[in-house]
Amino acid sequence: MTAIHASRSDAVTAAEQEHQERVRRLAGECMVVLENHGVLPLAAPCKVALFGNGARATVKGGTGSGDVNARRVVTIEEGLEAAGFTVTTKDWLDAQQALTERDYRDYWARTEAEAARIGQEPMFVSWADPFVPQEIAPFSAAADPAGDTALFVLARNSGEGADRYHKPGDYQLLPGEKALLETLGKSYERVIVLLNVGGVVDVPAIAATPGVGALVLIGQSGAVGGHAVADVLLGKTEPSGRLAATWARRYEDYPAAATFSHNNGQWNEEYYTEGIYVGYRYFDTFGVEPFYPFGYGLGYTTFAQRVDAATADAEQVRLTVTVTNTGARPGREVVQVYASAPYHTLEKPWQQLVAFAKTPVLAPGEHRQLTLTFPLTRLESYDPDRAAYLLEAGRYTIRVGHHSRDTVPALYIDLDGDALTKIVKKICPLDCELPLRTRRETRPHPELAVEGAPVVVLHAADIATRRVTYAGEPDPLPAPPTDHCITMEEVRAGKWTLEQLVAQLTVEEMADLCVGTAREGQEGADSIIGAAALTVPGAAGDTSVRLAYRGVTNMVNADGPAGLRLAPHFRVTAQGRILAPSKAFSEYAVDFPPRQPGDTDYYQYCTAIPVASLLACSWDLDLIEAMGDLVGEEMTRFGIRVWLAPGMNIQRDPLCGRNFEYFSEDPLLSGLCAAADVRGVQRHSGAGACIKHFFANNQEDNRMSVNEHIGEQALREIYLRNFAEAITAGNPQCLMTSYNLVNGVHTANSYDAITAFAREENGFSGYVMTDWSTSSARITAQVSRPDAYYPCASSPACIRAGNDLQMPGTQENIDDIVAAVQDGSLPLGYLQRCALRILQAL
Ligand code: BGC
Repeated sequence: MTAIHASRSDAVTAAEQEHQERVRRLAGECMVVLENHGVLPLAAPCKVALFGNGARATVKGGTGSGDVNARRVVTIEEGLEAAGFTVTTKDWLDAQQALTERDYRDYWARTEAEAARIGQEPMFVSWADPFVPQEIAPFSAAADPAGDTALFVLARNSGEGADRYHKPGDYQLLPGEKALLETLGKSYERVIVLLNVGGVVDVPAIAATPGVGALVLIGQSGAVGGHAVADVLLGKTEPSGRLAATWARRYEDYPAAATFSHNNGQWNEEYYTEGIYVGYRYFDTFGVEPFYPFGYGLGYTTFAQRVDAATADAEQVRLTVTVTNTGARPGREVVQVYASAPYHTLEKPWQQLVAFAKTPVLAPGEHRQLTLTFPLTRLESYDPDRAAYLLEAGRYTIRVGHHSRDTVPALYIDLDGDALTKIVKKICPLDCELPLRTRRETRPHPELAVEGAPVVVLHAADIATRRVTYAGEPDPLPAPPTDHCITMEEVRAGKWTLEQLVAQLTVEEMADLCVGTAREGQEGADSIIGAAALTVPGAAGDTSVRLAYRGVTNMVNADGPAGLRLAPHFRVTAQGRILAPSKAFSEYAVDFPPRQPGDTDYYQYCTAIPVASLLACSWDLDLIEAMGDLVGEEMTRFGIRVWLAPGMNIQRDPLCGRNFEYFSEDPLLSGLCAAADVRGVQRHSGAGACIKHFFANNQEDNRMSVNEHIGEQALREIYLRNFAEAITAGNPQCLMTSYNLVNGVHTANSYDAITAFAREENGFSGYVMTDWSTSSARITAQVSRPDAYYPCASSPACIRAGNDLQMPGTQENIDDIVAAVQDGSLPLGYLQRCALRILQAL
């Protein structure tokens, strides 16, 4: 067992306190003001009539492995009271709490009964049918004659294993919520609505309610969310967030809405017929008006932007923009840059984000000049016929502005011919006919010519082309010139190389190293997902100790992304046995057996930070890096080697159950946010980040057996591009493959994605691991929908693809790998390379 890093004291430490204060300060900056009719900020704490299911049961983050076991959660009710507000509706809050608790008891009884009936873990049953409180306590304004301010907190929750529903209580408002909002609109002078959500909800229904004076996306902001919200309401923190997704007028307006996940009654096949037209790329190209556009957000002040200079050469585009605070309060502005590429026959979005920058806090009247420089390749497209990235000949318009629907052209780039920027090979071929949406049917957008916007002419011949070379099957490593048993220490001292150490390992040893330690039947290894580590309670898993005789230590992996997920409390008996509430996602408030003499209690309280979908709204990479830094500090404190985060899939549709764990619908924003998070973590020596879930893990229902059919242009421009950006800008130590299949191949088995795309095309140099139990037939059968027909990923195919580590692992995985090497179907060189990359990480 590795040394215990946890504390023996339950007391709040100075470090824990400091982290909470940091989160309180930064969380508020991510929040997005969507409507404000002169209501916010409030001049001073006042009497407030507080309502909504998030007022007392504030959601700090989603459920599942992304849920961080915080010491406690500061609710909005508590945050307001601590800030000096007087909550006048305690009776209503009590009534609502009683209703929700009753609902929950009924729900859990139903879940357990169903689990017993079908012989399943209740956890898996609840995933397929998550808890949604159904009842809202009624309210009559006569019950609160005192106040003029009402605050309504709308909360929604979701998590892994299940997608959200387009129905009341989830995407839509419950009838009780609608009725209550209407009553508040009629009864109070100021009605403020706070959205305590991880993703999109039906905002038009709220904004249209007469009397609603302000609407703020507070997201799910971690354990001190109540304090952060009070600071924002009082203007102590400036909410300078901007949306990282498009909020539609109607759910049906999203391009995949008709068929996404359960919407068309089947979960096995998902056809990405919208192609590259995801999020604003779709809305803007096909003329669909969003309710709140991508990049939108008001803050408490106003800004003017002026482009001072704009230029481009064969490598990069450079803009200088002066931002002036034209309002009456301090604030921060995000300068957003979009590009429209010439459209011939290759599909192209009307515009796409190519750069952004955020000012520091500017006082009223203050201005600041920002410089935005970005590579010309951000304008490129992928042509599946030519298997190349390219800039097509024609006019490129670079637009600068406040959000995606409020920009002006700042520069025109005229390119005199097609320029191939990167020549690659075709990957992940389609396994079916896939009719794709095309821009051909739309009317061209009018081009706004702005006087004074400069034109730069570029020559295609000046633009560099990179041709990627791909290696073939790896040769077996040459045997070292010694029989001496090489150790890690000797490798570190430079006496031998790691390759020589690996060449000495037996096939069984390498297979063992390439499979995590939660082997069935092994003591302590009884939990499956989310808490399978044997050495640090509550961590998700760890790596083999089989090579301890050579000085190879294990690596403990713990979940995220909204902080570090560990068991906050565990006990070690006099015999050294760890007692911990290890059962995956169950409540951590479980009873320990009676304390025995010699038992020692340990504590490891981690900080719950805002969920990724809120962090991205900051559009502030330094802020996200600071959050990663906080996590890295805690990893060092508690002996965690790898953080299974950030999550960074594309928010293809608002109903994906894990969108809260992901940054955005845009691949550039997602990739850069992930890279910042990674940099913050990896600042700490010995701490590594694992970006996930690679790739196209966009559906949670039947997630282990869904086949996502995606054309190569969309793959390369959207669903893989985010990962490419994160690899280039963040250099993560690790990559986790996803559960789903893409075009008939499990991503865990995809040589094209792992070796060709991540490593050979984009220079990923770390190691790759599977998501939990992707190669376990037993778990796949348990978690998949009854009508699912795709088997689990194959263990030997993981190794061949370059997927180095199968987590949390079974003995069967090891046996399958050994058998495949022995029967010649898995050449030894592949296994040796996987083992090598794991040891390199150490
Ligand atoms: C999730 C991963 C997580 C892993 C370990 C899986 O169910 O999909 O995101 O890292 O469990 O807990």
